[in-house]
Amino acid sequence: MSNTDNTSIHEFDFSLICEYFSSTERQGPGSPEVTLKALSFIDNLRAESRIVDLGCGTGGQTMVLAQNAPGQITGIDLFPDFIRLFNQNAEKLNLQERVKGEVGSMDNLSFQEEELDLIWSEGAIYNIGFVRGLTEWRKFLKTGGYVAVTEASWFTDERPEEIERFWMDAYPEIDTIPNKVTQMQKAGYVPVASFILPENCWTENYHVPQVAVQEAFLKKYAGNKMAEEFIGFQRYEAELYSKYKAYYGYVFYIGKKI
Ligand SMILES: C[S@@+](CC[C@H](N)C(=O)[O-])C[C@H]1O[C@@H](n2cnc3c(N)ncnc32)[C@H](O)[C@@H]1O
Repeated sequence: MSNTDNTSIHEFDFSLICEYFSSTERQGPGSPEVTLKALSFIDNLRAESRIVDLGCGTGGQTMVLAQNAPGQITGIDLFPDFIRLFNQNAEKLNLQERVKGEVGSMDNLSFQEEELDLIWSEGAIYNIGFVRGLTEWRKFLKTGGYVAVTEASWFTDERPEEIERFWMDAYPEIDTIPNKVTQMQKAGYVPVASFILPENCWTENYHVPQVAVQEAFLKKYAGNKMAEEFIGFQRYEAELYSKYKAYYGYVFYIGKKI
């Protein structure tokens, strides 16, 4: 297969994933309650505060933040389709004066040093890695500013081989909670809080809404191998979670720059 063919398949892959996740309110595990719990650890936000949500997707968590915290919020995501929906969602909620979505990459941010009061990122820092993200983003925060991210984490020191293999392949930077907290401290933050996202963030809010989307997708793309494989993988991920949820999950890590 030529490079050109590879490129077009890759692009189709992305647009397929975007189409799939554009149909769900969230593109990762989470809930309004958890976003609010994380927000409760953050003080000193004011109307002039500058907040960014990196890997914001269509903005499920950003809108919760905006409705419960003062400040100007910029959502950044790599995918223009997500940002278009993000801005539509902000408008629907009449938040467009304070909440703006922009296409951009979390590894190439153009903020000024010490410009930001809060960096938020739910289910997205893994795209560049926890340690790299925390380290590179720190300079954009004011002293006393906060970072709040969710990250896949192990709950135990040891786990069954099937789930260990899955994660070593998907995201080898997954680690235990104490190790992640240490990494946050080493990256120059005071670890203010960490807590495990409850199960409903994965089930009710993430896997369950995908079931209808998967059926519609398989109908629309009947016979399309790539679409079928993609849905197969999403279903496999959901099965693994229900089988091994005692061993891993998402954890919110909140840190303060000193
Ligand atoms: C699992 S989704 C989480 C979305 C949303 N924060 C949520 O919790 O529903 C990960 C998001 O990261 C975005 N993303 C991937 N790589 C990125 C990058 N380099 N810069 C910015 N966003 C990125 C994806 O487009 C996607 O919206």
